[in-house]
Amino acid sequence: MTTSRSNLPAGAASSNGPVPVPDGSKPILSVENLTVSFDGFTVLDELNFAMAYGEMRFLIGPNGAGKTTLIDVITGKSKPSKGRIIFDGSIDLGRRQEHQLVRLGVGRKFQTPSVYASLTVYENLEVMLGFRSKVTGLARKLRRGEGDRIMDTLEQVGLSHRAKDVAGGLSHGEKQWLEIGMLLVQEPKLLLLDEPVAGMTRRERDRTGELLQSIGGERSVLVVEHDMDFVRQFAQTVTVLHLGKVLSQGGMEDVQQDPEVIRAYLGNNRSQRPEAGRLNGQREAGEPVALGVD
Ligand SMILES: Nc1ncnc2c1ncn2[C@@H]1O[C@H](COP(=O)(O)OP(=O)(O)OP(=O)(O)O)[C@@H](O)[C@H]1O
Ligand SMILES: [Mg+2]
Repeated sequence: MTTSRSNLPAGAASSNGPVPVPDGSKPILSVENLTVSFDGFTVLDELNFAMAYGEMRFLIGPNGAGKTTLIDVITGKSKPSKGRIIFDGSIDLGRRQEHQLVRLGVGRKFQTPSVYASLTVYENLEVMLGFRSKVTGLARKLRRGEGDRIMDTLEQVGLSHRAKDVAGGLSHGEKQWLEIGMLLVQEPKLLLLDEPVAGMTRRERDRTGELLQSIGGERSVLVVEHDMDFVRQFAQTVTVLHLGKVLSQGGMEDVQQDPEVIRAYLGNNRSQRPEAGRLNGQREAGEPVALGVD
């Protein structure tokens, strides 16, 4: 596995200017001076961010920090008003449309699983390879090797024993894994996941962490997550976003002791979601269990 390790001191990314990838290697993704505004409200503010090939990076930050917006703009859902997003050496993603992303090698998973409930687990992956119509469910013949690719992917996401089952009958966690499989079978170079463990049991969450680790190394993975226990358990490098800028970057231990990070989270402890404003994963007495942190 070639996952890069963090060697940036906490807070090293607070200054203006490009944020290097932690081990100084060639980035798969380089976001340069990226600004996104909605109706005059600046959501990403001259943001600089980079990720290495084969890296699994966690992106955290209080509610409204701009995490989902960053994924939206990388995937062509929102357009930047300034700056560039350079992918795989030379492709400027800011100039591409959403539908071109899969072909370029970028896969995105939204928080809510979206699988084809009436098709089997296996057929869901066939749809992603373009061999089965998502409307009629009818299939053409799979090309040589494609069936193996589907089975290998199901093996990787732990669903090979569910291949013939209808996707609508899967548990929440299994649907999330199926959707990750639906992205993986398309062989993306970069995978973007927005809060993949929300609503999962601890067991499902741990299996998801292991799955993401198995994907990293081969592919680059950017994970937006609020579940700090999960981040602490699986992250090597964490980037903290706040007010549309990178506030801090480094190992979780360093980042959570960074005074600027602590201040940003404390200032946000009135957030709608209890886990979103808390950095240390502790629950207050009598507080309901936060999603995925049981
Ligand atoms: N399409 C849009 N139009 C207007 N404002 C938007 C739009 N998308 C996002 N915003 C605003 O941009 C800010 C950042 O939102 P974003 O969803 O990126 O935050 P986030 O870090 O993902 O937060 P959370 O942790 O709550 O998911 C918020 O104030 C949000 O209201
Ligand atoms: Mg979000």
